[in-house]
Amino acid sequence: LQDGTRDVTQQILDRLDSKASFLTSTEFPDIPQNEIKAALDRLASRAMVQYTTQDSERLSLTPEGSTIVNEGSHEYKVWDAVHKAGKLEMKDLLSAVGDSAKVGQGNAMKNKWIKKDGSALVPAVDSVEDATRIQLQQVQDTQALKDPKLQADYKKRKLIVATKVITYTVEKGPKYAKEIPVEVTDLTADMLASGEWKTANFKPYNFKSLGATQNAGALHPLNKVRKEFRDIFFNLGFIEMPTSRYVETGFWNFDSLYVPQQHPARDLQDTFYISDPAVADKPRADPEAEAQMDIMEAGINKLHGTTKPKEPRDYEAYWENIRKVHENGAFGSIGYRYPWSEKECLRLVLRTHTTANTSWVLHRLAQDPRPAKYFSIDRVFRNETVDATHLAEFHQVEGVIAEPNLTLGDGMGFLEYFYAQLGIGNLRFKPAYNPYTEPSMEIFGYHIGLKKWIEIGNSGVFRPEMLEPLGLPKDLRVFGFGLSVERPTMIKYKVDNIRDLVGHKVSLDFIESNAAVRLDKN
Ligand code: PHE
Repeated sequence: LQDGTRDVTQQILDRLDSKASFLTSTEFPDIPQNEIKAALDRLASRAMVQYTTQDSERLSLTPEGSTIVNEGSHEYKVWDAVHKAGKLEMKDLLSAVGDSAKVGQGNAMKNKWIKKDGSALVPAVDSVEDATRIQLQQVQDTQALKDPKLQADYKKRKLIVATKVITYTVEKGPKYAKEIPVEVTDLTADMLASGEWKTANFKPYNFKSLGATQNAGALHPLNKVRKEFRDIFFNLGFIEMPTSRYVETGFWNFDSLYVPQQHPARDLQDTFYISDPAVADKPRADPEAEAQMDIMEAGINKLHGTTKPKEPRDYEAYWENIRKVHENGAFGSIGYRYPWSEKECLRLVLRTHTTANTSWVLHRLAQDPRPAKYFSIDRVFRNETVDATHLAEFHQVEGVIAEPNLTLGDGMGFLEYFYAQLGIGNLRFKPAYNPYTEPSMEIFGYHIGLKKWIEIGNSGVFRPEMLEPLGLPKDLRVFGFGLSVERPTMIKYKVDNIRDLVGHKVSLDFIESNAAVRLDKN
């Protein structure tokens, strides 16, 4: 119990010693209402007092209302100026009474205090009663105003404001005493033996007091947002791709995506290369990875059924297809026509996007081509200048839809539906360039919470140069898109510096106290 509350408790008991009942607003106008309530509850739980609660309104003057009490109403000032002058040209009124001129002249005429005489004003009466000033004075003195119509009128004119006040009527309870008697908090063996427990004054339980805060685990905001994204994808029938490989070969990260070996994205300043080991073997079947794929495939089978018995994946043919499509052109494309280097292709990188994983998954789909919807949410790495909104690693959300004769319009329609669930409507698409998609579109959305347009993703229709080497049929169109988890999370939790969200400077209190996420409510 705080000293303040003990003090208020005693003051209440003192007051009841001299008065049968009282109103807290008149007896203790300066003590905050929550302190009074705490003290009253403490006493009421011991039946020492009884109280009832009244909600009421207290009126007070706005600065304009106070000016009227001190100087008179606008109409009074106008009448006073005209009366003193005997006759006042209307054009001189502004310099005579300032801001009061406009409202004041109208009201003074309506009250028949002044009248027009050509282009001038003359007084119509010799003395006036400034009712507005008198009524506002009354508000100042009593914090109230009887006439409800006047009250509404003054509120509308912003001369008075009402604040809600809670007061309590307090009276003695059956166990009233001048002081809280000493209370016993523990029942001891001695008390039982001596029989003292029968008459002891036990402290009552406070069933309303809050328990001590517990230390418990909490999900990181990025994880909460990730869960939201996963739920949206699952609700739409998407299947999660296994994405455990942070280290990839250039083959999957770039070449399989028709990114030429001279592309600037492959430069050291954009991509992290592994030094030991620096290169990998050529792609081949990996039983552990295939087992993860089997789990994923089981999901698709459930939704779409299998159409063909599974054949072992042919990595050799795929490798040769990639070489051909880059070096000489193939599948109806003239290719890039440069000497394609196997060594460059086998260099190990920290994956720069989860699209590396997507081509690996699509290679598996090519064994048994059929409509499929995949997604993944996992970490990617870019050798970027680190600043308030960028780190060298972030989490990418990736969605992929494979469907015969899928159109660009279908993809755009899907994105509109998808982003609507994040509270982002009115999408705009801007033509962009990715080596692996054509057409490619940056996605912009109007964010309701932020009230502005923001870039929220990249998308496109995968090129035949990427899909046909995989062995996918020509009519199976594949649409893909990607965005970061960090961006919507920073928006959602109003974090402006990424270091407050990720890394060693993150405050645990921020993690523990954050609300559950609902992306559509901002
Ligand atoms: N890989 C792209 C990126 O990193 C996202 C994307 C995925 C674009 C699939 C098109 C298709 O921004």
